[in-house]
Amino acid sequence: MSTIEVRHLSKTFEQKGVHVGALKDINLNIEKGDIFGIIGMSGAGKSTLVRCLNYLEKPSDGQVIVTGKDLGTLNEKELRKTRSDIAMIFQHFNLLMQKNVIDNIAFPLTLRGVSKKTAYQKARALLKTVGLSDKEKSYPAALSGGQKQRVAIARALASDPKILLCDEATSALDPQTTASILELLQQINRDFGITIVIITHQMAVIRKICNRVAIIDHGELVEEGLVSDIFNHPKSKAAKELILKDGYEGSVPNEISQQERMPEGKKIRIVFSENSAFEPVIANMILKFLTPVNILKADTKNVGGVAKGEMILGLPTDTKLQWEMEQYLTEKGLNIEEVTDDVE
Ligand SMILES: Nc1ncnc2c1ncn2[C@@H]1O[C@H](COP(=O)(O)OP(=O)(O)OP(=O)(O)O)[C@@H](O)[C@H]1O
Ligand SMILES: [Mg+2]
Repeated sequence: MSTIEVRHLSKTFEQKGVHVGALKDINLNIEKGDIFGIIGMSGAGKSTLVRCLNYLEKPSDGQVIVTGKDLGTLNEKELRKTRSDIAMIFQHFNLLMQKNVIDNIAFPLTLRGVSKKTAYQKARALLKTVGLSDKEKSYPAALSGGQKQRVAIARALASDPKILLCDEATSALDPQTTASILELLQQINRDFGITIVIITHQMAVIRKICNRVAIIDHGELVEEGLVSDIFNHPKSKAAKELILKDGYEGSVPNEISQQERMPEGKKIRIVFSENSAFEPVIANMILKFLTPVNILKADTKNVGGVAKGEMILGLPTDTKLQWEMEQYLTEKGLNIEEVTDDVE
């Protein structure tokens, strides 16, 4: 029995008489202990799917079966009970700003009738798990994004869930903090045996911790399988676009191995200025010219949607193509210069 089974799930929203088909005939099995990734472009239906998994959103058609229970057949009370097996964390943490850290974690427990003593004991133990014992009395406003997400994780774990749903849980965090939160999720998966579903548009997140991945495109599940298979051999157009785009986007330069490098001609340095939006300009260039480039060095960071840092590219040997690519980058408002020395 799978932990989560999705059968012919469809969801249509109706707004002022207009029907929006957000999900179409989704079939999916998520097994116990999986760290299951769901990726897709903005508007593809990822959040809708994850909200259907705990019936925050009621499917228009099809079934969601969680640990053997068909959520559509449960009454209110049974649904509430099954839902307590499913916790959720979000991009913007959703903490109670007027309560301190320990109260934020204990509050949902006391609300459910757990004694104050037990609730606070548990909250303290969980704070330790997430590495924030020294912040017990702090208020959310005094915490960093990563610390807030740790509190949210501790709160999610308080109900002893079997499943943790994460909707863009690291999207508001910088790369280092993202890595530490992913490690924490991995630890939780390992130590507590919790099945984790991760929705993200960050391919690096999937690659780092997921074992399986599904790709959603315009409300349809277009590809699903082992992360290693799909990332090495994407078949669908959507998967190719998402993965190709990421592979050349430079945030994980040490993952680009020597063997994968193409013979190269000219080397150029791109400096991302204050005004460069973090659009996938390199990826778009590769898609436009259908020719790969080598990222020889990438030291870029996405700071609030603005790219900072520099990148050194090895352009193809074809001089016409070199010129066109340089034109393209210049048109995109990037400063480029030729690099003549060796890049270590
Ligand atoms: N409550 C709603 N009412 C009407 N339409 C909705 C509602 N929620 C979502 N939609 C529509 O359903 C589609 C899928 O939205 P969803 O939020 O699931 O996308 P997503 O993949 O999570 O996108 P993002 O990456 O931007 O978060 C979109 O076209 C959206 O406009
Ligand atoms: Mg979403």
